[in-house]
Amino acid sequence: MDMLLIEGGCRLSGEVAISGAKNAALPILCAALLTAEPVTFTNVPQLKDIGTLLALLRQMGVKVSVEGGAVTLEASGLNNPVAPYEMVKTMRASILVLGPLVARCGEARVSLPGGCAIGARPVDQHIKGLQAMGAEVTVEHGYVRACVPRLTGARLFTDMVTVTGTENLMMAACLADGETVIENAAREPEIVDLANCLVAMGARISGAGTDVIRIQGVERLHGATHRIMPDRIETGTYLCAAAVTGGEVRLTGTSAAYLDAVIDKLMDAGCEVVTERDAIRLTAPERLQAVNLRTSPYPAFPTDMQAQFMALNCVASGVAMIRETIFENRFMHAVELQRLGADIRIDGNTAVVKGVERLQGAGVMATDLRASASLVIAGLIADGETRIERIYHLDRGYERLEEKLAALGARVRRLN
Ligand code: EPZ
Repeated sequence: MDMLLIEGGCRLSGEVAISGAKNAALPILCAALLTAEPVTFTNVPQLKDIGTLLALLRQMGVKVSVEGGAVTLEASGLNNPVAPYEMVKTMRASILVLGPLVARCGEARVSLPGGCAIGARPVDQHIKGLQAMGAEVTVEHGYVRACVPRLTGARLFTDMVTVTGTENLMMAACLADGETVIENAAREPEIVDLANCLVAMGARISGAGTDVIRIQGVERLHGATHRIMPDRIETGTYLCAAAVTGGEVRLTGTSAAYLDAVIDKLMDAGCEVVTERDAIRLTAPERLQAVNLRTSPYPAFPTDMQAQFMALNCVASGVAMIRETIFENRFMHAVELQRLGADIRIDGNTAVVKGVERLQGAGVMATDLRASASLVIAGLIADGETRIERIYHLDRGYERLEEKLAALGARVRRLN
């Protein structure tokens, strides 16, 4: 079991390149199921979750070729519209094959993803939308089974804003008969990136990025080439790491365009942030000011940055209130941060963080992807050595993390 050893106390400085966005690449790779023609994606991050999804697509009969950050998929030989539990349980975003499989094959059998550390993660909205489009959907023996000769366009309204729910239904609607309107759609930039890829494949979509997305179904989609957008959460994570260490970094191959809420909070905390066309520079103050935050769907403050900002608030001056409104159990990192000396009080979905002068290095355990990132950030500013176990969580969402941190001057190494 790999672990990370971090020697705290180094100011981060220098430049690193940001990778392609995991949460754009996952739905976009599934979009290849919608056509028999080859589709090529570039700037694909080399992550565990991406490898898991490619293995899932391969066992369905999709031809997969990978050259560095370029992936070409060809689903002409798609002959097994099934996503088995053994594969889905390791990566719940596998549910994103459901919509494309029903649209392309008229049937799908996808294991229910089940919950994870941060919550129950139900997929009822995905199912409700497909049923509204005419699919017969049953849930039995832990699998979602869906079948319909051809989906029919419909007006869909999701009970809550759901990112992968919006993505699944948007992909399904591309090959439906007639127009589909998704109301209360998620507005995340990753949905816009997916829509841009689908349009390049011949889909007819308008409104992506707003809460009403219109899709005119077409008979078939064709091949295309698409470059995955930069990872805004990886970007925010490195900005936080630089901020807490009093550092000065320049992140390239990324954009501030999708990080307004995060950059606002970093500036409130006392950081100077300069945005260039495809880079962001951050200069941190001697000591940060505590910042309150409340997670909400895009464009508000992203839940995927909540854990990283909790680490930042642990050593900021003042008291911060953090409210997590998206997931029911996304404070798992708090108890681990307390092992490092943080002063955090949890009350339901609210955390009260009282900044302390210094944290002390200790052994801690990663519980989920973004919680692991918050422990890395805390380790960078803790006195002495911090040992983070179960870092396979990190490998799911951060490409070459220790390499990039070391390039910025951090003393970090991986032990296995
Ligand atoms: C996506 O998850 C992201 N994952 C998550 O990132 C992110 O935290 C989340 O959106 C919120 O922004 C990917 O894009 C692969 P939701 P998703 O459906 O789509 C409830 C990371 O760290 N809900 O937007 O699964 C749900 O329980 C990951 O990279 C239903 O009740 O999240 C949650 O409370 C973690 N029924 C809320 O909606 C449904 O059918 C939002 O979930 C669907 C969702």
